[in-house]
Amino acid sequence: MIKGQAPSNIALIKYMGKIEGTGNKPTNASLSYTLPHLVTEVHLHEIDGDQDQWAPLELKGFAAPELSEKGRSKFLGHFERLKQAWGLSGHYRIESANNFPSDCGLASSASSFAALTQAAAHLREQKTGVRTSPEELSVLSRKGSGSSCRSFFAPWALWENEGAEAVDLGYPDLLHAAVVISAGVKEVSSSDAHVRVTSSPRFEGRVDRAHQRLRDLTSALKERNWSESYRLCRDEFIDMHELFETSAVPFKYRTKESSDVTDACQHIWNHKGDGPLVTMDAGPNVHLLFRADQRELADKMIEHFRKKHMTFTSWRGLK
Ligand code: DP6
Repeated sequence: MIKGQAPSNIALIKYMGKIEGTGNKPTNASLSYTLPHLVTEVHLHEIDGDQDQWAPLELKGFAAPELSEKGRSKFLGHFERLKQAWGLSGHYRIESANNFPSDCGLASSASSFAALTQAAAHLREQKTGVRTSPEELSVLSRKGSGSSCRSFFAPWALWENEGAEAVDLGYPDLLHAAVVISAGVKEVSSSDAHVRVTSSPRFEGRVDRAHQRLRDLTSALKERNWSESYRLCRDEFIDMHELFETSAVPFKYRTKESSDVTDACQHIWNHKGDGPLVTMDAGPNVHLLFRADQRELADKMIEHFRKKHMTFTSWRGLK
């Protein structure tokens, strides 16, 4: 049996919009923070038969995702691509599970596709003795699911074109919390969202806005300008959600409860002149990143949010 494990990541400058027919090459560069406490594990078992299969992995502390037919074939299709790329033969039962809920805006596709790519690379190494570099893993994983290409680098990953790379922006030990408004499967997948946003009138200029923000955020983080970083991250996730909400057939992930959480964070910032970075992916949940020296504030805020919502943190184990 071969194992692979990979973390999730949260984008602060978002991958939203892809160049058609390029295997998930993005219309704009993105920047993410890797979340080592939110992981997918994949096990590969060689089987007789003429097809690969997917099955839920039973592992303590992990839960298998509810994979739709489409999700399953995307996952198996990625494995087939990896086998072809590396000349691997045989068929396998692919078992996978996450230690966090999937399909709810916690970027489970990033960790699952990265973990599958990692597992296949271990298989390659076992069969051929060839090791795969993180750069190659990133480029191949991107073809399965774009955001997964950033999960091979930590703490920061920058993805501009073929694959991601590590970037040094300081803050190696940010605390992460995800306030889970809903752990249900979302109605519009992020893959569909990538297509639908291009019909928004706001998509014009999106690439320039994202790139300008990427430059500004990179500088702000390097200069340790935390409040400017907060402002840019906020503008960015709002920009992305406005694309969803203004596409030709509009769709919405933000709920009243998501806004209550982001408003509460803004209130803290207004009051204290300090607070966490706040962002949302293609889902209703809210991600917070605190500096290590904000531990006390983080504990207080999490205690507050936990009264209403399931909240995962990187510093107290999973709750
Ligand atoms: C909103 O990587 O899930 O999380 O390439 O079609 O699999 P596919 O899309 P996916 O898109 C993630 C979009 C996002 C923003 C981000 O992670 O950058």
